[in-house]
Amino acid sequence: MTSPDTEAQHVEATNLLYRDPALYDMVQSDSTSAEMCQTLIELHRPDARTLVDFGCGTGRDLEILAKRFDCIGVDLQPGMVHHAHQARPDLDIRTGDMRTVRLGKRMDVVTCMGNSLAYVHDNNEISQVFATFAAHAQPGALLLLCSPIAPIIQTQPTTATVDTLRGPATVTIRHTWDLRTQINTMHRHWAFPSGDEARDEIRRRVLFPRELERYAEGAGFDVVDMSDGAEGGLTGPTAYTVARQTRR
Ligand SMILES: C[S@@+](CC[C@H](N)C(=O)[O-])C[C@H]1O[C@@H](n2cnc3c(N)ncnc32)[C@H](O)[C@@H]1O
Repeated sequence: MTSPDTEAQHVEATNLLYRDPALYDMVQSDSTSAEMCQTLIELHRPDARTLVDFGCGTGRDLEILAKRFDCIGVDLQPGMVHHAHQARPDLDIRTGDMRTVRLGKRMDVVTCMGNSLAYVHDNNEISQVFATFAAHAQPGALLLLCSPIAPIIQTQPTTATVDTLRGPATVTIRHTWDLRTQINTMHRHWAFPSGDEARDEIRRRVLFPRELERYAEGAGFDVVDMSDGAEGGLTGPTAYTVARQTRR
């Protein structure tokens, strides 16, 4: 296993948004994942009071969730955590690696949103992450994941304009898929009005629904719901998984 510091540097290097967390917040500002998370908690554990979010990034979801729950956030990257402290000083956000971190607390809800789980690629390390989830779960706690359950396979690049503090950027995205490792790589090119450019290579491990069940069960959680909002079953590429801790 790479050390947390090396892993943090590696992850930061893959993505312009991690080197510029204010831009991350701007680009993600229309995300509805905190609201979805809250809806799922109301449905499955309405008495929940405490929540820990692993891979919380800049804390943008926690800012919303903290209005309802006592929250702690953990993220690998010191730069993201530093930005979270500046932008959201009232939140309890800590630097830590979800493969190994132990906060010494058990919560009613454990979350890992926004594809954070997909940054852990190795099977054994994924098991370690689920052990971390279990180590922070009260009996009967809810585990909420938002993660890739199927690859994005696109043959043609897509282009969009994204508003940034440096003006409108032209962003071109293509995906590649390695079935052997189940890594879906997003290749993203940024072109800014100044002529500056940036390239991202974001490698995400896809865990198919049955694999997610296996990892969850191995850590003492039973999956009670898996949904991507589509009528009539999962279509992917991303889904919310809801699991309940059934044993320590
Ligand atoms: C796409 S961001 C999602 C952040 C946040 N959950 C959101 O939805 O805005 C993925 C986050 O996972 C974090 N991450 C990746 N590997 C991690 C690890 N081993 N431990 C903790 N956080 C990790 C990254 O630092 C990054 O902030």
